[in-house]
Amino acid sequence: MADISTIYKLSIIAFIYFTNVYGTSCPVLECWFVQERPGRGGGFPAAMSQEKSLLYINTDPEWKRPESQQRPSTDINPDRLYYITDPAATFCSSSLHPPEGSVQKPQCEINPFMPQPSSVQWTVSLTDSAHSPIYLQADWYSASLQGLNGQLSLSSVMRAPTATKEPAVLLSVSSRTPVVRSRLGERVVLDCGFWAEASSPLSGSGFTVEWRYQFRGDGRLVLAYDGKNDRLAETQEKGAELDFTALHERGNASLILQEAQVRHSGTYICTVYLPYILAQVAVELEIVVWFDGISTSPPSLSIFPSPLPLSVPGQVVTVQCEASGFSPLSLELHWELMETDGNVRPLGQGSVSGHRQGPDGTYSQTTRLQLDSAKLDLGRGGEVTCVAVHPGGTRRARVTLNVIGVSAPSIEDSMAMVAVALCLYGLIKVISWTFISSDAEKVNVLS
Ligand SMILES: *[C@@H]1O[C@H](CO)[C@@H](O)[C@H](O)[C@H]1NC(C)=O
Repeated sequence: MADISTIYKLSIIAFIYFTNVYGTSCPVLECWFVQERPGRGGGFPAAMSQEKSLLYINTDPEWKRPESQQRPSTDINPDRLYYITDPAATFCSSSLHPPEGSVQKPQCEINPFMPQPSSVQWTVSLTDSAHSPIYLQADWYSASLQGLNGQLSLSSVMRAPTATKEPAVLLSVSSRTPVVRSRLGERVVLDCGFWAEASSPLSGSGFTVEWRYQFRGDGRLVLAYDGKNDRLAETQEKGAELDFTALHERGNASLILQEAQVRHSGTYICTVYLPYILAQVAVELEIVVWFDGISTSPPSLSIFPSPLPLSVPGQVVTVQCEASGFSPLSLELHWELMETDGNVRPLGQGSVSGHRQGPDGTYSQTTRLQLDSAKLDLGRGGEVTCVAVHPGGTRRARVTLNVIGVSAPSIEDSMAMVAVALCLYGLIKVISWTFISSDAEKVNVLS
């Protein structure tokens, strides 16, 4: 009992301590502080240093860290403890705070940040006065965080009065759906939202939103909106839009694609600019083309030759399975044999070809299997099945394999052979009769 009451008292003390000191707080975040190692340069690639750090988050802008506050007992360099004010509470998202003992950890990185006037065309108007405000002379940081299970991607820019380690978040850009999977022809929303500290001198003079597309080294501007002048930049992209009311009222910068096409697959980067600072998050879009009953031009999965030639033991039959017209590329092909008694036996992957991409952006891929009845123990055959496993689902194609004359012929086989022999005998008889009788007729005619 004594133990329990001690624990109880301790937890009350801990509770009071936390509610007093941290006010409206959320759990501490472990983070990596990453910066370029000083003292290099002169053309060398910058070496990065990485140190453990802790972020204490408070959502109350009025909150002050008490002078007397004890340092937590950790092995972490006291210089790497940050006391962050985040009025939007984006850092408090449950996906950044795994349950106790969880193996999975959210990712967090914090870096020094350098505010500077933007040079991007549609953001220049944000910083058109030539001189930088005094306000910029402070310690600046950017943080980027990835929540558990792909539930959040967050990027923030923070400012701390010089040497205080007490940064306040000025701009947060986040996406609740960093990975989006969509079907062909659907309307797609790529989630992106931002929050800016209204009391900061950097707010109030406008913002800019930019969406860029990136795929295997190919990049292009999808959309850029100058919120200061309410102007949309000219782009080639058709059917991509923002909800301007939601953008101005709630910072909802989500990109809406009217109709998903295969060519839309790739990475989209949502960047929000305030004067001198910017934050960005990436959203991955995958367009799925598979057997779903929705696609107008569904893919195909076929086996050839079909039907398979009859096979005798020792003979090798090559069978091929082709999946075509699918997307994304992640496809796994393998073979199975469903024996006549219903047993399913794996036959391996076969030799899988490289992929080809069609003009519409979809893929095709083939696998070949050598059906060697001696090596594979095919018994009397069965249904040879090609199995295609895809993010859109699993699909099978089948063809019948008949192995004849297996060492111990079944009763059916023997009966079939007897029947064939009888037929042949009958046929020979009929033919010979026909010849004999027609010869006899000829003789009659001549006489
Ligand atoms: C932002 O707008 C999109 C598209 O209109 C909508 O689907 C999404 O739910 C909105 N997000 C929030 C947080 O309101």
